[in-house]
Amino acid sequence: MEENQQDRKKVFVKTYGCQMNVYDSARMQDALEQDGYVKTTEIEDADLVLLNTCHIREKAAEKVYSDIGRIRKFKDARAETNRPMQIGVTGCVAQAEGSEILKRAKAVDLVAGPQTYHRLGEIVRRAEMGERPVETEFEIEEKFAKLPLATKKQVQSRGVAAFLTVQEGCDKFCTFCVVPYTRGAEVSRSVEQILEEARSLVDAGVREVTLLGQNVNAWHGAGKDGREWGLGELLHALAEIEGLERLRYTTSHPVDMDESLITAHRDLDCLMPYLHLPIQAGSDRILKAMNRHHTVADYMHIIERMREARPDIAISGDFIVGFPGETEEEFEETLNVVREVKYSSAFSFNYSARPGTPGADMDNHVPEDVKSERLQRLQALLNEQQLAFNEDCIGREMRVLIEKKGRKPGQWIARSPWLQSVVIDESLGNPGDMVQVKVTGARPNSLTAIGV
Ligand code: SAH
Ligand code: SF4
Ligand code: F3S
Repeated sequence: MEENQQDRKKVFVKTYGCQMNVYDSARMQDALEQDGYVKTTEIEDADLVLLNTCHIREKAAEKVYSDIGRIRKFKDARAETNRPMQIGVTGCVAQAEGSEILKRAKAVDLVAGPQTYHRLGEIVRRAEMGERPVETEFEIEEKFAKLPLATKKQVQSRGVAAFLTVQEGCDKFCTFCVVPYTRGAEVSRSVEQILEEARSLVDAGVREVTLLGQNVNAWHGAGKDGREWGLGELLHALAEIEGLERLRYTTSHPVDMDESLITAHRDLDCLMPYLHLPIQAGSDRILKAMNRHHTVADYMHIIERMREARPDIAISGDFIVGFPGETEEEFEETLNVVREVKYSSAFSFNYSARPGTPGADMDNHVPEDVKSERLQRLQALLNEQQLAFNEDCIGREMRVLIEKKGRKPGQWIARSPWLQSVVIDESLGNPGDMVQVKVTGARPNSLTAIGV
């Protein structure tokens, strides 16, 4: 007899940080479901709470501890009625802080780093026995080999656009960044594994796949033709999957931008005209101190080549303001880069000193108020550019992918080729449909459009 849904254990997963954590959370949840758990969105109902954490900036990491404090109340309440709740910390804080977490947060029952998720079922069982396991080995190849593929139903529950990790870890060691320590050395998944996962996503109804990697364009592997492939060749192979309408990839590093990737943007219709290419800062001296291995001129040259290959390409980026030693003049160089590139969107942050990174030990840390003032100026400019980019679309026709319900009844949210949210009437189709629309309005974070 099939086990009653009511009797199955419930898992609640909260995701912090980047898209790779979103992808990892889905895979953990899928694996646990195949192991007998059901998902819940109510924390108090959960037998297992997983916090899939981010360590990139101090605020992100600290938020986890305040959340644990809150969740602890639910755990205590459940304990009174003899319904135990296990709290697990996964992700980059788990990797960076390991057993320290158990000391600091008594309510935590298990700690599992990003490369141990294929063993999560076993780790949870040990936690249930009272062990408080801490697992932080780097077993990335094994992880991907052993994690089960999502079932059709699981894929469908997440909609028509999906993430697919193709590369994980980082060997770049930018002096501000924790990722090489939390995700380990750079590893590329094999072509076969990636194609298999992409096909199964498309079979279940996915129309848009975003390839993920901390340095996605450093991906490389043995190709089907016996040659060593880069991301450009991989995109060509993925483009052949029937039913896969759109491809995207993120995040790229300027140093790994090769010709095959640039020409893929010229040659592949399904490769969306969008490039997320962080420069972080606009001063060569700061870029050097950040260990970025490229100059502002190198970056501008890549943008130029990309725009030659695909004139309508949208550029987005990440910026850090107030890296140690950054002067007002150097910060203004960042503004100049922004003015020159004209970004369609961007993320920008105050520099956050992270324990264990070289940046934290540098002299001349920029005072918080100076950082915040600079960030405000940068964000004002970026917001202006984003709105201008959106307004430029008014009156234009484009093909959008219908993704999900809008905020108001009768609306769908669709996605433009340039990653904008497009609000359209629900009579135009259903999720998964590609429809031709004409843009009638623009706001800072969305467009409105009508059918044509
Ligand atoms: N691999 C990507 C970025 C990964 S982290 C790359 O090389 O560009 C995502 C973003 O967080 C970074 O691009 C950077 O802008 C920001 N970031 C990373 N460390 C930071 C820190 N210590 N303080 C503030 N922002 C940081
Ligand atoms: Fe961090 Fe730099 Fe690696 Fe990006 S390239 S993940 S910023 S160390
Ligand atoms: Fe954060 Fe780890 Fe992603 S530190 S940004 S969750 S790789």
